Amino acid sequence: MDSILVTGNGPLSGQIPIAGAKNACLTLMPATLLSEEPLTLTNAPRLSDIRTMTALLQSLGAEVTSLQNGQVLAMSSHDLNNHVADYDIVRKMRASNLVLGPMLARLGHAVVSLPGGCAIGARPMDLHIHGLEALGAEIELRDGYLHAKAPRGLKGAVVDFSFASVGATENVMMAATLAKGTTVLKNAAREPEIVDLATCLRKMGARIEGDGTSVITIEGVDRLNGATHPVVTDRIELGTYMLAPAIAGGEVECLGGRLDLVASFAAKLEQAGVTVTETGQGLKVTRKGGPIRAVDVTTEPFPGFPTDLQAQMMALLATAEGTSVLEERIFENRFMHAPELMRMGARIDVQGGTARVTGVEQLKGAPVMATDLRASVSLILAGLAAEGETVVSRVYHLDRGYEHVETKLQAVGAKIERIRG
Ligand code: EPZ
Repeated sequence: MDSILVTGNGPLSGQIPIAGAKNACLTLMPATLLSEEPLTLTNAPRLSDIRTMTALLQSLGAEVTSLQNGQVLAMSSHDLNNHVADYDIVRKMRASNLVLGPMLARLGHAVVSLPGGCAIGARPMDLHIHGLEALGAEIELRDGYLHAKAPRGLKGAVVDFSFASVGATENVMMAATLAKGTTVLKNAAREPEIVDLATCLRKMGARIEGDGTSVITIEGVDRLNGATHPVVTDRIELGTYMLAPAIAGGEVECLGGRLDLVASFAAKLEQAGVTVTETGQGLKVTRKGGPIRAVDVTTEPFPGFPTDLQAQMMALLATAEGTSVLEERIFENRFMHAPELMRMGARIDVQGGTARVTGVEQLKGAPVMATDLRASVSLILAGLAAEGETVVSRVYHLDRGYEHVETKLQAVGAKIERIRG
């Protein structure tokens, strides 16, 4: 198993290009199942999760061709020949459950393995099921698989989500595009990845309004056509690299970065004493000397502070002057990076969903272990500011969501390398 060696090396400077969003691409790819015509995605990220989704779609009979060094995905679902999403693929990646809605809408039936447990929380699918049943689907759990059918097709309905779930909004929105009549999603998630999906579906001929707000209206159509669509910028990768100069000092420009995608996060960075500037090419982050100030953070659905940047923000606050309070409100078990940061000398007191982080003068390099995707990169960020060497093991987690992390950080002066396992 690979690991990554990081040596604290002082301030950073230069540019880092930001890729297309993993979490947008993972919901855009299943949209191909809704149409017989080709769907092409450009600006696709090159990640192991994208390869897993590719394998899943191919197992259903879709064609998925990766072009231009993996940045273009040419897909066609003209000849689907299987409606079972197998446990062996689904257990590798939860987002596999996003094939349920599109398959049900297009084929009238689908069998999708329940993903099972996850390091950061229970992550049930009750809201997905609630939404699809409201559209008339009959769903039964058997042998760990959701068996869903809608022999007479889906029918538009009002769906009121008890929580603004990203995945449930995406699954039901896709299904509703081919339902008879109008669907209204209330308390829908507002994440930019949902706006990107709705934008692509509109290019395919879907009738969708209100994406980006908490009420989305979808008027069903008989069929969808093909399209070509660029994947939106990855706001979580963007936020992660904005934290690199914040924690190590210096100035880095994140190419392709957009402030509207990270506004609540950028506001917290500014509060902590870091400068964020919009440039013609992206976002520039500057920290020239001066301490990081403690700030309190609570994770919330978009446009609130993203849970996917909580671990990385904790690494920064571990070096701040004073005590910060971080509240994780989205997932019930998302502080597994805290004990690893404490191995580097951080002072963190976790009580349930609240972590009190008292900043220290200097973190110390140590061997640490990645437990999930965002935890892994928070340890790399901590290593950039630590004295000595940090070795992060189990970086397969990292490769799921970050392409070329070593090269991108080396380009701005970080001392970082991958140790092949
Ligand atoms: C998406 O997961 C992202 N994944 C996650 O990113 C992200 O953390 C999350 O949204 C929140 O922003 C992808 O887009 C592939 P949710 P998703 O449904 O759709 C509960 C990363 O690091 N819930 O909004 O699974 C659930 O348990 C990943 O890239 C139910 O109770 O998130 C959780 O506590 C990690 N029942 C909360 O809602 C349901 O049916 C948020 O989940 C669905 C969700």
